[in-house]
Amino acid sequence: MKACIKLANGKGFEAESRSMQLMSVPRYSKDYPFLATVLERRCLTGVGKKDIQHIVLGIKGSEFAYEAGDSVGIYPTNHIEDVELLLTALQATGEEMVPHPKTSKMMALKEALFKHFSLIHVPRGLLTLFKDHASGAERERLEAILIPEAEVAYKGYTHGRDVIDVAQDFPQTRVPLDLFVKELRRLLPRLYSIASSPKCYPEEVHLTIGVTQAHHHGRLRLGVASNYLAQRVPLGEPFVPSFLAKSHFRIPSDDEVDVIMVGPGTGIAPFRAFIQERSARKANGRNWLFFGEQHRASGFLYQAEWEAALKDGTLHRLDLAFSRDQEAKVYVQDRLLEAAEEVWAWLQGGAHFYVCGDADHMALGVDQVLHRIAQTVGGLSEMEAGVYFKELKKNKRYQRDVY
Ligand SMILES: Cc1cc2nc3c(=O)[nH]c(=O)nc-3n(C[C@H](O)[C@H](O)[C@H](O)COP(=O)(O)OP(=O)(O)OC[C@H]3O[C@@H](n4cnc5c(N)ncnc54)[C@H](O)[C@@H]3O)c2cc1C
Ligand SMILES: NC(=O)c1ccc[n+]([C@@H]2O[C@H](COP(=O)([O-])OP(=O)(O)OC[C@H]3O[C@@H](n4cnc5c(N)ncnc54)[C@H](OP(=O)(O)O)[C@@H]3O)[C@@H](O)[C@H]2O)c1
Repeated sequence: MKACIKLANGKGFEAESRSMQLMSVPRYSKDYPFLATVLERRCLTGVGKKDIQHIVLGIKGSEFAYEAGDSVGIYPTNHIEDVELLLTALQATGEEMVPHPKTSKMMALKEALFKHFSLIHVPRGLLTLFKDHASGAERERLEAILIPEAEVAYKGYTHGRDVIDVAQDFPQTRVPLDLFVKELRRLLPRLYSIASSPKCYPEEVHLTIGVTQAHHHGRLRLGVASNYLAQRVPLGEPFVPSFLAKSHFRIPSDDEVDVIMVGPGTGIAPFRAFIQERSARKANGRNWLFFGEQHRASGFLYQAEWEAALKDGTLHRLDLAFSRDQEAKVYVQDRLLEAAEEVWAWLQGGAHFYVCGDADHMALGVDQVLHRIAQTVGGLSEMEAGVYFKELKKNKRYQRDVY
């Protein structure tokens, strides 16, 4: 059987993927995804606050040999309401035939937009196509957005705008639909850190998913994959094209070694897997977890599990940073700094240090605080601290899974 995704016909793809399951060929992959089943969905956050969900995917038959620290990749579809909005703006029926982005086989526009193309990203080429077919005021506006020496104009226009906005903003401009889809980016799979250990859940992967949404230019934009998993996938049916994404993010093979884990927000996910794994292995090494969210009342993810783990000795220490429960923000790196002496002692004792979650701000803040601790408590110079953490990374004692 050919190893490529057959999404040109949704039914064909599902039938083919199921027949792979029946033949029990163990090689599901990114190019040949397994249809996982959403077995359970549970909201971890308080009403009206951030929506973070615990989602259990059934993977029986997938032969995913997953380990704590791995991620799962899923192929979502777009919101059908968005596809319909776009078709209306394009004055298209959806029956028009356009080429499949990978195979170039012709398929109906509606299905292509539903399954294969990103409606979020507005590539320059798409606006250029509109400009080339525009006239009058619409052409003038597009020329101003695309002016080569002012990237800021393109960035300013595209910020918070998607492909639907483009079609709605230039209603007089008709573009050939085959050229239109050629300018769109492909709809890519999304990765999610696995929040369970295969020792405890061999036929399931647990996920901790922040359901994203944002208001831009008067319309609510729903994150494609998080809302797909949290809202649109039916429970109990093999439905979600999935693959295993192996990672280098790993607990120590030596069970005597201590670990420090920093995972605010959805960054907690792999550490739930780590702690389950260390517990199943009866590891003697100590587990220290730093967790943060906005509010204790609504955002203390897996609170009961951590409290039970503290009680039964699986978790040795839990430091919490609820950023918005007091006037001045408190973040996980502030808690690290407060515990600087112990953090340094654990590191000197051979502990492994892990960070998961937001790459842009949190991981940087944690790294800066670690360097500060090495200097203030460890007595290292700035340069020595740099060398120290470089060595830790080289020896896989400082690992990050940030996104
Ligand atoms: C290794 C790895 C592990 C990860 N683990 C996790 C995890 O454990 N949990 C987790 O929650 N995430 C995790 N992520 C992030 C995850 O892969 C997704 O990026 C995240 O869920 C958002 O995907 P989405 O499809 O829901 O949103 P997208 O559709 O990709 O949207 C992203 C953002 O763009 C904006 N947007 C969306 N639609 C529009 C629009 N129409 N117009 C304008 N703006 C728009 C929204 O503000 C939205 O927040 C991980 C990422 C990586 C790389
Ligand atoms: N690139 C970005 O601008 C950005 C920002 C946030 C999230 N994200 C993405 O959102 C997802 C994770 O979101 P999430 O809702 O699970 O968690 P999150 O947004 O990372 O929030 C979890 C906690 O971290 C706090 N936080 C905010 N900035 C921080 C910083 N600089 N250092 C340390 N902690 C900080 C938050 O506080 P407050 O909210 O009170 O500040 C909150 O208490 C990831 O995909 C991440 O990449 C991206």
